[in-house]
Amino acid sequence: MTSNIDLSPLFQPTQIGAVTVRNRVLMSALTRNRALPTNVPNHLMVEYYRQRAESAGLIVSEGILVCQQGTEWPHAPGIWNQEQIDGWKKINDAIHEMGSKCFAQIWHLGRVSHPDAPDQIASGQPVYGPSAIAARGGKFRFLPGIPGYVTPTEIDDPMKLVALYKQAAINAKEAGFDGVEVHAANGYLIHEFLDSGSNMPRTDEWGGSLENRSRFGLEVLHAVIDSWGTGRVGIKLSPAGGYNDMGMPLEETLETYKYFIAEIDRLGLAYIVLQRYSEFLDPIIDGKRRAIKHDVVHAYGHLVKKSTLLSNGDFTPEEAAEYVAAGKVVGVFWGHLWISHPDLAKRIQNGKPIDTPIDMHTLYGNACGTTLDDQRVGYTDYPFAEHP
Ligand SMILES: Cc1cc2nc3c(=O)[nH]c(=O)nc-3n(C[C@H](O)[C@H](O)[C@H](O)COP(=O)(O)O)c2cc1C
Repeated sequence: MTSNIDLSPLFQPTQIGAVTVRNRVLMSALTRNRALPTNVPNHLMVEYYRQRAESAGLIVSEGILVCQQGTEWPHAPGIWNQEQIDGWKKINDAIHEMGSKCFAQIWHLGRVSHPDAPDQIASGQPVYGPSAIAARGGKFRFLPGIPGYVTPTEIDDPMKLVALYKQAAINAKEAGFDGVEVHAANGYLIHEFLDSGSNMPRTDEWGGSLENRSRFGLEVLHAVIDSWGTGRVGIKLSPAGGYNDMGMPLEETLETYKYFIAEIDRLGLAYIVLQRYSEFLDPIIDGKRRAIKHDVVHAYGHLVKKSTLLSNGDFTPEEAAEYVAAGKVVGVFWGHLWISHPDLAKRIQNGKPIDTPIDMHTLYGNACGTTLDDQRVGYTDYPFAEHP
């Protein structure tokens, strides 16, 4: 059935901070676990991003580790050494050749790394969190017995971790990105500081009150803006929580995010992306869904005045076009749909089917394969439609 909703609002070029984008069909960060064991981006990743850059208005890179960490997601890329920077340069060159733009999503996992993971051991660092509170869950399938998350070490001076984001942002500039997205969503470090459930016992200026819980995210933004300027710095938030055991009671969620979003908007960021509730990111813990469901665009969108408001999470193209036409958001990021449709924006524009299923076995790397060629499967081999 073809819909009679006008999708053309999605194809009006626009400005996202200092960056001009050719359309509003944006690609959100997607961890795909194909980097080398040294966390260096490889030629397969160049091909993957090049394919999607043919039509995406803006691409946000997969989460890029700001330092070596023992994540649940082995083979994630990093940006703390020259080889990694050079790998990203090749990806950015390919993206630019195809006429698209790319922001680096800079990522510290905080409490959801594991001290026994080889990368964490090699880093010589403990697993840090804002407070000594463990998240429930944790798959770590590559560790014996699937041990789950641990109680992290409370970071004594959070500015030490801010410094990692600062250096990652500087390195991202050298790697030719168009900007930086600060990952403050999905239960990773900045989110852990924001959420009282992972930060409450802390009583210094970094924990407890909502002003204190917001401080870490604000400091990271200031550190990143130092090298990029506000027009090339975005931030991703997921106030509904869920993933990685995040979520405060609704009243507290509203109070916390209203404060934080008003504060960060004052900076005039390139964008603030509000990730909507998504069942995919909402684990069942103790028999119940964990997220605090609410309409995040409705609850917080009006607070975004000096930055560009974007959204993400289970949008259909029709709904996205309606949001853009109504001025609710400037553009929409997709995650899942870009995985199995390398030409997603063109498909939407040309009315082609969006029905290729995702191969779940190869979503986070091809566990059955050891060579880079094996890693192509379910990564760079999804079909393109025929376009005029
Ligand atoms: C395979 C996969 C990997 C993801 N990796 C990241 C990531 O590295 N950083 C991030 O912020 N979100 C990540 N996400 C979340 C997506 O960016 C997106 O916010 C979410 O899937 C909701 O959008 P969608 O409904 O269009 O997929 C990932 C999602 C999937 C399916």
